[in-house]
Amino acid sequence: MQVKLRVFRFDPERDQKPRYDTFIMDVDPNDRVLDLLEYIKADFDPTLALRRSCAHGVCGSDAMRVNGRNYLACKVLVKNLNADTITVEPLLGLRVIKDLIVDMGPFFENYRSVLPYLINDEPLPEDGKERLQSPEQQLRFEDTTKCILCAACTTSCPSFWADDRYVGPAAIVNAHRFIFDSRDRAAEKRLNILNEQMGVWRCRTAFNCTEACPREIHITQAIAEVKKAIITGKIE
Ligand code: SF4
Ligand code: F3S
Ligand code: FES
Repeated sequence: MQVKLRVFRFDPERDQKPRYDTFIMDVDPNDRVLDLLEYIKADFDPTLALRRSCAHGVCGSDAMRVNGRNYLACKVLVKNLNADTITVEPLLGLRVIKDLIVDMGPFFENYRSVLPYLINDEPLPEDGKERLQSPEQQLRFEDTTKCILCAACTTSCPSFWADDRYVGPAAIVNAHRFIFDSRDRAAEKRLNILNEQMGVWRCRTAFNCTEACPREIHITQAIAEVKKAIITGKIE
């Protein structure tokens, strides 16, 4: 099949304003958008800038907007877009460094702000090996362990677009992962951080984040559980 691919181009060091380059391409319906971008780099324009690493939906590095919606370029097939024209643009709300590459610095700052690691200063159990957890306890936070930090959720959130100081759904998902982990002892600290002005209360339950997540994490539900824990003071 033939598609028209429109690719956002912008080099802030050379260009006054962004432009779209257009390519008419013969493609296989089973090609992924990442394949199309690789063809362009190989055959038309090696200067096209994008991030990618695993090419299999694992590393989270190639999130971008495709026909106005956030996807991992390596996970979206041409045939599933049902469109003759495919427009590829960088994620919204983060500074464009070049073409499809955005500055992920602020995103990772928000991530770090919620202490996304296990905190427990208590001595290890007597056998000195590991802190045990039942399958039920593990299930409580299993969904939010699936995050690959691609930023598709945060950059599709209207509250983040309105004010990029909002910590964002990805950071809350990663806080949730430890708040509800029975082995962790810093839930209260994280809940206090998320109860601040730029924390969970900025979420207006828009659900864009949940729709955008390539890992199908129930993000809006996780955010609701964090809000509930703040209100009740209980980690259930
Ligand atoms: Fe990406 Fe989903 Fe993690 Fe958000 S929660 S960063 S969309 S994997
Ligand atoms: Fe934004 Fe998701 Fe809440 S899109 S408003 S964080 S439900
Ligand atoms: Fe790794 Fe797409 S390149 S998730």
